[in-house]
Amino acid sequence: MKQKEQTCIDLKTDRLLDRVNDLVERMTLSEKIGQMSQVTGMGGLTDNLRLAIQQGKVGSILNEVGLESLNEIQRIAMEESRLGIPLLIGRDVIHGFRTMLPIPLGQAASWNPELIKKGARMAAIEAASEGINWTFAPMIDITRDPRWGRIAETLGEDTHLTSVLGTAMVEGFQGEKLSQGDSIAACVKHYAGYGYSESGKDYAYVNISESELRNVVLPPFRACVDAGVATLMTAFSDLNGIPASGNEFLLKKVLREEWGFSGFVVSDWDAVKELKVHGFAEDNKMAAFEALQAGVDMEMVSTCYQGHIATLLREGLIEEKIIDQYVRNILRVKFELGLFENPYTKAADFPVSGNPEFLQIAKQAALESCVLLKNDYDKLPLRLENIQNLAIIGPMADDAYEQMGTWTFDGKEEWCQTPLQAIRAMVGDRVNIHVAKGLETTRTKNRDGFEAALEAARKSDTVLLFMGEEAILSGEAHCRADINLPGFQNELLKEIAQLGKSTVLVIMAGRPLTLGETKDYANALLYAWHPGTMGGPAIADLIFGKASPVGKTPVTFPKVVGQIPIYYNQRNTGRPTREEDITFMNDIPVRAAQTSLGNTSFHLDAGLEPLYPFGFGLSYTTFHYHNIQLSAEQINLGETLEIKVELSNTGSRAATEITQLYVRDIVGNITRPIRELKGFQQVHLAVGETKTIAFQLHTKDLAFYNRKMDLVTEPGQFNIWVGGDSNASLQASFWIKK
Ligand code: BGC
Repeated sequence: MKQKEQTCIDLKTDRLLDRVNDLVERMTLSEKIGQMSQVTGMGGLTDNLRLAIQQGKVGSILNEVGLESLNEIQRIAMEESRLGIPLLIGRDVIHGFRTMLPIPLGQAASWNPELIKKGARMAAIEAASEGINWTFAPMIDITRDPRWGRIAETLGEDTHLTSVLGTAMVEGFQGEKLSQGDSIAACVKHYAGYGYSESGKDYAYVNISESELRNVVLPPFRACVDAGVATLMTAFSDLNGIPASGNEFLLKKVLREEWGFSGFVVSDWDAVKELKVHGFAEDNKMAAFEALQAGVDMEMVSTCYQGHIATLLREGLIEEKIIDQYVRNILRVKFELGLFENPYTKAADFPVSGNPEFLQIAKQAALESCVLLKNDYDKLPLRLENIQNLAIIGPMADDAYEQMGTWTFDGKEEWCQTPLQAIRAMVGDRVNIHVAKGLETTRTKNRDGFEAALEAARKSDTVLLFMGEEAILSGEAHCRADINLPGFQNELLKEIAQLGKSTVLVIMAGRPLTLGETKDYANALLYAWHPGTMGGPAIADLIFGKASPVGKTPVTFPKVVGQIPIYYNQRNTGRPTREEDITFMNDIPVRAAQTSLGNTSFHLDAGLEPLYPFGFGLSYTTFHYHNIQLSAEQINLGETLEIKVELSNTGSRAATEITQLYVRDIVGNITRPIRELKGFQQVHLAVGETKTIAFQLHTKDLAFYNRKMDLVTEPGQFNIWVGGDSNASLQASFWIKK
């Protein structure tokens, strides 16, 4: 091995760009291509990997874990490669590292950016303490299709909510500044359109108009770029015939030219090579060409860049200045992370993972992620003094692994506290608990466990059921065409319901399931998503009233799968349906005349409404919205409107409400959604308390991309609603003057 050259650490100037440029000038082509290559460490530190790092052929590694091995990998890069360039160590830290938070969709149900930021900070600290300096999160794909398994990883269906919560995650991961030792670089993904995969099938074709892209899909990416996210990952998708990993419009025009993104872009796993499979490039060389041409700085796992950049340069298909630019983008992030100065990790510099403070964050996140969907006769919270015998039934009641959800490579199953454990700990010997799984797993299709479950229920005055989906039924490549409760869960629920006991159903799942049938089998329904390490204690607190539910649906719950895509911010259409227009199939007279139903837009068998709308969630108290007031009836472009509303706690418990502001732009150069979320706030109210809540709405918050793809706010009338979900009825109007 050649004598190690002087590295950037020794440079006279501290100025980042000079350091980057200086380093690039001293790099060979092979070293530059190395920086643009990310390899998988899944095989461990093999001789081949060691050699590749020594030769400067690796810029980043993903999926190698273990502090000792990662420090050794950095040492090889720093001491045994010619230029001593540290590696980016990537890992999917998606919703916690060792301490698991709820799945991202669950976190989104908290509508609490501060809490989400805290969770991401905790995850960053745990990951950084084990040598990881880059996470492939947050996932900010907008989706309206719960069949898609990756909905679990999203922050829901809404552009504004995703923008706010995605930004909070970026800030949490990256900390005050990237160079602080416990920061890790964030990576927003998947750019762009992945969440619109046809029929909710992973990796499928995506067809999105530029208008929809710019108005719905791209704004969260823009928000995270503005918040300083260090990196961005391309989507696997074929977007309108131009796969995202070879899409110059997305990566150059929008990302670099319009938004001025200065971090770097990594392809998704093998996505460069897959340009060939898409039928977009004839071979790996041309796949590398298309990705380079489009603006992909780093290739994840596949080796088209390694194998073909030199040839592409030799043949004059690309210019070396492009390569230099991409290498600069990558090195800049390495410098910003302070890796040249501090490439190694000392566990002693960090708090231990899973410490009480972290567990408390995970518990609070789980608690605020739970959404109370139904609570007939105020069954919840349960009052311990009224219960002597409690049945705890269902495959998700005591399954630490499954409650962690998807993407939990590093999650500590042994730290998880299940609902059964937590309830036992809470009630002690004050209540007799009768446990029966009923079904071995959520997918079980036999009645072997039914009798034991029914027996447990018969012996009890109250029945708690824990059902849902196992972790493997959502997440990447785990899509479903039927999103009912799987297996014989509905059958078991039905038989238990027939016993006429007080029944509370808790569902843990990676997506909004279709609960049209299910909801009728329980008096109360609490949706806990996959709640992570502290799911049990959080759920126990809610069930027994130590806390009141806060969560609101971050996504619309369809009644049946045929309603998909169903989302709150639809367009009005030329023939909107009023409640009174809806006629269900069985109510149509035989041989009714063709036009007798009135020809409006709804399903004969499902009507118009979803099962639960976006933004919905009950509390143990009741809230009343009243007295909406605007600071003006008319404002000018460039001005801010203040919207004030009074919110009263009219129930018998102190509780927190998530107040939501929706707007409709009545007439537009393109048609505008019937409602769009523009703001939300968490408000805590004591019993009987009334608070005035104020929202500020600037005219730029009402901007959209018009027919010419210009971002404009148009004068005219706007309607406003404030309330506790997307059906809020308290309304006012204002005008923007011409
Ligand atoms: C996923 C990405 C993930 C990457 C690395 C891919 O299969 O689509 O979201 O970050 O793998 O594990």
